[in-house]
Amino acid sequence: MHICKAKNYQELSRKAANFIAAQVILKPASVLGLATGSSPIGTYEHLVKMYENGDLDFSQVTTVNLDEYKGLSGSDRQSYRYFMNTHLFHKININYSNTYVPDGTEQDAEKACSAYNEQLHKVGPADIQILGLGHDGHIGFNEPSDHFEDETHCVDLTETTIQANKRFFESEADVPRQAYTMGIGTIMRCKKILLVVSGSDKAQILKKVVQGPVTSQVPGSILQFHPDCTIIADEAALSEM
Ligand code: GLP
Repeated sequence: MHICKAKNYQELSRKAANFIAAQVILKPASVLGLATGSSPIGTYEHLVKMYENGDLDFSQVTTVNLDEYKGLSGSDRQSYRYFMNTHLFHKININYSNTYVPDGTEQDAEKACSAYNEQLHKVGPADIQILGLGHDGHIGFNEPSDHFEDETHCVDLTETTIQANKRFFESEADVPRQAYTMGIGTIMRCKKILLVVSGSDKAQILKKVVQGPVTSQVPGSILQFHPDCTIIADEAALSEM
């Protein structure tokens, strides 16, 4: 794992955007694996600026997102499709039909997951997969468990995740209890991983991910086995290491 230290969230976001920009410049038809949550928001802001300045062209890029809440449609403000539209897709020149997010409106979990897997197989492994880190060590919505899941599956969100994500909803009761997420196998088959972590509240879990044993109880720890994983973290997130 390559660890790149940033002073603060702003610097982290600039570094992460530059990392992704280099990929798109070198390979305009890149497949980008994207994440939601607050960690990558600054990164997306910088990518939008680079596009506006004429330094980046997304016209040939394809994107695959990690996850989506089960039961939320793309027009729902809390859905991850909505998040991606507002933070990135509607602000750059990407071909919208080349942006993929699991279909939260499909109530049949098996159908939703196999349709997304089929899409992911067609697109092929992402050139870069961006990841955030949950407080319980989850990546995507792969929650702590007794095993690693290979491909897209439906998960029951843990209490920690529901508590952490309720800030985006009107009330805790509105937080969906299930989500569709890309599996750990799919994430591990991506060519490069970029994990962005910010804030002292992530310091303990980041230490476990990087220095602890590799275990499905801390899903992010599997990244220790990825051959090309870069972590960009701010000083606060690195404060326990
Ligand atoms: C959510 C998402 C993850 C994200 C994590 C951390 O649960 N499913 O993909 O990485 O939260 O979010 P944040 O960056 O807001 O701390």
